[in-house]
Amino acid sequence: MPSTRSVTLIRNGRVITASDDYVADVLMRDGLIHTIGHALEVGGDVLVIDATGLYVLPGGVDTHVHLENVIGPTVTCDTFASGTKAAAFGGTTTVVDFALQTATDSPLGAIARTQRSAESQVAVDYSLHVIVTRVDAQVLQDVRHAMHHEGVTSFKMFMAYPGVMMADDASIFRMLRQVGADGGMVALHAENGTVIDLLIQEALEAGHTSPRYHALTRPAILEGEATHRGIRLAELAQAPIYFVHVSSNEALKHIVTARAEGIPVFAETCPHYLLFDDSVYQSDDLEIAKYVMTPPLRSADNQKHLWRALRYDDLQVIATDHCPFCMKEGHLGYRLQKMRGKDDFSQIPNGAPGIETRLVSLFDIGVMQGKLSLNRFVELTATTPAKLFGLFPKKGTIAVGSDADVVLFDPNASQTIHAEHLHSHCDYTLLEGRTLRGRVEKVFLRGQLIVDGPQWLGRAGMGRFVPRGEVRAF
Ligand code: URP
Ligand code: ZN
Ligand code: ZN
Repeated sequence: MPSTRSVTLIRNGRVITASDDYVADVLMRDGLIHTIGHALEVGGDVLVIDATGLYVLPGGVDTHVHLENVIGPTVTCDTFASGTKAAAFGGTTTVVDFALQTATDSPLGAIARTQRSAESQVAVDYSLHVIVTRVDAQVLQDVRHAMHHEGVTSFKMFMAYPGVMMADDASIFRMLRQVGADGGMVALHAENGTVIDLLIQEALEAGHTSPRYHALTRPAILEGEATHRGIRLAELAQAPIYFVHVSSNEALKHIVTARAEGIPVFAETCPHYLLFDDSVYQSDDLEIAKYVMTPPLRSADNQKHLWRALRYDDLQVIATDHCPFCMKEGHLGYRLQKMRGKDDFSQIPNGAPGIETRLVSLFDIGVMQGKLSLNRFVELTATTPAKLFGLFPKKGTIAVGSDADVVLFDPNASQTIHAEHLHSHCDYTLLEGRTLRGRVEKVFLRGQLIVDGPQWLGRAGMGRFVPRGEVRAF
């Protein structure tokens, strides 16, 4: 049974934020962090939890998830309900999803439509980026309205997927100029879409239809080229820019150079680019469709550059790009997901799951392997995403007055990952059978205990839409 008490005292945990690391008691009252101190005495009806030996982390903030997203002819297999429950079990208490501007609706229509589906389902707090596919004077007016009146302050644009979501350079530039001036952020999917489409066409004409050609037709150099172009557009627009799912040093090197020049360029990578490399694409096996995400996995050599950038702040965020599609026909009723492309790799919906395993996988391969400090781990998975997308200090930290989104994490536990034990609708995980150190023990959303070990105490619809403010890019 969920606790109905509005006061909870977490005793003796090790509080880790982006900057601090100390043992303390944390008192949560009425949904907020009320007091942090030593040997706190609290009268009345209080739920007291002994967190000796556990880390007390801010709830994770995942600023790149696709729940119920229409991607080409397919819809991602997590609903707002299943995806946010999975997020919660993984220690993430805020997600930022996407509202897609279609051919027929405006950015404001897209926000309203997405909120209507999300409202009764979300189990953690959420916000939305708008995917802007078409720019004209009316769209720019809507974008301004969304920023100032709807609490939607970031907009994703695609340099890939011509004819579906790709925007031309002038449209991207117009958005950068306006959104930047208004204190928001344009997030860019940087790949040269028209050249990629040519390579795909040529591969298919040569009879290369198996999933591994997905990777071979999206070379890193085309991610690098688009990243460089995006940076120059942002420089001209005098606007900050954020690159999603950076996978390669080809892209990263332009980001590093631009930052060194003082251009406000920000970027995320995703756990799969740190966990796996392109050696998975070595056969023509259909199973490889699991690894068909965009950008594709890169050669192992790229990982050392990503880790270096994560340590030294050339990459500021690790988000999941959770974009799940089932492998098996008919799993939970989902049809023609990954298998849509069994005879033609270009029809495989792009994306992989990861919303529930972000914190634990990064704790294992980052913190435990000495590649990230604990503070940096928190900064990359909660604090900076909250700052860059206008959620801080409500979200992303443990501080008096912040939302009481708190994770109790056991650094000494370990777990073996199996898809059947996860909470996503997806029928696979890229981490199947892998043993990881660390475990999310308890999760609080605005002071409410929603995850208690394996027990789900949360509820669909208890998550709230969080209106966001200006980006804190500097
Ligand atoms: O493969 C991916 N990343 N699919 C989701 C769409 C996107 O580009 O983020
Ligand atoms: Zn993308
Ligand atoms: Zn994505």
